[in-house]
Amino acid sequence: MVDHKIPVILDGDPGHDDAIAWVLAKSNPNFDIKAVTSVAGNQTLEKTTYNAMRVCTLLGIEAPIAKGRNKPLLAQLITAGNFHGESGLDGPKLPEPCMQLEELSSVELMSKVLNETDELVTIISTGPLTNVAALLLAHPEVKDKIGMISIMGGGLRNGNWTPAAEFNIFEDPEAAQIVFTSGIPLTMCGLDVTEKAIVYPDDEKKIRAIGNQVSTIVADWLAFFFKHHEQLGWSGSPLHDPCAVAVLLKPEIFTIKDLYVQVDTKGQYTRGATIPDWHGTSKQQPNVRAVLGVDREGFVDLLVEACKVYDDRKVEIQ
Ligand code: BDR
Ligand code: CA
Repeated sequence: MVDHKIPVILDGDPGHDDAIAWVLAKSNPNFDIKAVTSVAGNQTLEKTTYNAMRVCTLLGIEAPIAKGRNKPLLAQLITAGNFHGESGLDGPKLPEPCMQLEELSSVELMSKVLNETDELVTIISTGPLTNVAALLLAHPEVKDKIGMISIMGGGLRNGNWTPAAEFNIFEDPEAAQIVFTSGIPLTMCGLDVTEKAIVYPDDEKKIRAIGNQVSTIVADWLAFFFKHHEQLGWSGSPLHDPCAVAVLLKPEIFTIKDLYVQVDTKGQYTRGATIPDWHGTSKQQPNVRAVLGVDREGFVDLLVEACKVYDDRKVEIQ
């Protein structure tokens, strides 16, 4: 029996790896999922919201779900249909949503949860940081109620959308800058770690062999993801977003370093880059717990164990 649960908000743009991140989050009895918020990113807001509702229906996440921002704070929306398909979550069939969307916007729902919860809340953000930045702009008073923001975003040595920038940060660098300079404890799972959190076809087989509905769908999502990564020369797929959850569940399998990290919003070649001060030349205090490495096998074990938690769950899929 768990007597103390951490209140969390899941914010993302599902997306295959966002969905798998939520599989991990819901499997953990120590998390009390208070709200789910969608954001435009991997696909348009309509699509990511529909996907968020379908994934929550599949997993039994009963928290209120609110629609977030339909575009970055200042920039134009770009989507990643090349990775996640036309629906944003192509591949296996999913259940139709069993819930209604909240009438509140993501910002209002987040602020309500933060105000109503006695304990500090952890926000897990696996998409562009637009919703979180919009929350901090509209309700700066809730800042003290956020214990941690755990993000998938950035890369301290390379990008994946441009040579310098990772997709989530490149999508909305202004939002990222607001979050990185907010003073709120920030755990950053950038490409430094997520490109080491690779799942291979043999791992997919292990997950498929579990044989429950969720594990079969996770295996199908992985198979979908493999095809796209193969074209880029990968022999497996980096599971970016699940790192932002896994680092909270099993920090001991990760390598973490406190660092001062700035977001470039202006560079001609480096807009959206996350620039680390490796050598302390700026004399600034660290603002980020930067996650740099992971024991890959420990990460896969965590995922396999999480999938087993859904043995007794089965929903109707038409
Ligand atoms: C990030 O971009 C999206 O496509 C993934 O869902 C992940 O959040 C990786 O760069
Ligand atoms: Ca994502």
